[in-house]
Amino acid sequence: MSGPILIFDSGVGGLSVVKALREQMPGAPLAYVCDNAALPYGTKADAWLVQRIVQVCRAAVAASGARVLVVACNTASTLALDALRAQLSVPVVGTVPAIKPAAALSRSGVIGLLATSATVTRPYTDKLIHDFAGHCTVVRVAADGLVDQAERLLAGEPVDDAVLEAGLAPLWRAPTLDTVVLGCTHFPLLRDLLNARAPRPVQWVDSGSAIARRVAQVIDQYSHRSSTKRDESWATDADRFALIRCLPDYGFLPPQRLAVLENAD
Ligand code: DGL
Repeated sequence: MSGPILIFDSGVGGLSVVKALREQMPGAPLAYVCDNAALPYGTKADAWLVQRIVQVCRAAVAASGARVLVVACNTASTLALDALRAQLSVPVVGTVPAIKPAAALSRSGVIGLLATSATVTRPYTDKLIHDFAGHCTVVRVAADGLVDQAERLLAGEPVDDAVLEAGLAPLWRAPTLDTVVLGCTHFPLLRDLLNARAPRPVQWVDSGSAIARRVAQVIDQYSHRSSTKRDESWATDADRFALIRCLPDYGFLPPQRLAVLENAD
């Protein structure tokens, strides 16, 4: 296999997974694509989203020549992994809420799931909870407002304290909750801000390092090389300020516009 590891998200959230990948596989060529013209995904209809995700990923795999696709988006993964695997010729690694490690870490057996409204209600999430957290109480919190706050933070804009507080508030109504799953890849980017607003110590758990380990298993470890070629990025709206500003901080060239062929099926 050759070509970069392609990381896909609706926006900047996948950069939390990029961070883990760069730590785990320094020197491995990466590429980034985000469908920011359709951001946020968490409030879109499922049928539209599946089609859109397949269209964007197909175009991005072709543009980047990727060897593997990392769907660094819980909202997309809990919905579209089967469709992507059926329609793409490269291996696909998904990102789903870290329910299993959180259930293992929690002492009280009360854990929170902080994610988009789509992810908290998906059958995929029901199954994760059923399979790995049957002995726990899981407080599901839809916090779509935090997605935009992460976008703002990475654009260097001020975040809105009231939105952060409101997003977290339902968690604190469970007095013994001690562990919170960051079930949206945008949320680890806000971890310090969220932690500063916790009224008591909690453990924040995300999927980044588990995804990086999985990617390392999937690709040929020995084909890693320190490439002299800069890592490229694509966006469906390449003019959005957040990306132009933050992608170079994560080691990518500024985004090129990704043209998406609608109704290509
Ligand atoms: N980063 C995405 C996730 O992990 C969702 C953000 C959005 O709503 O577009 O779920």
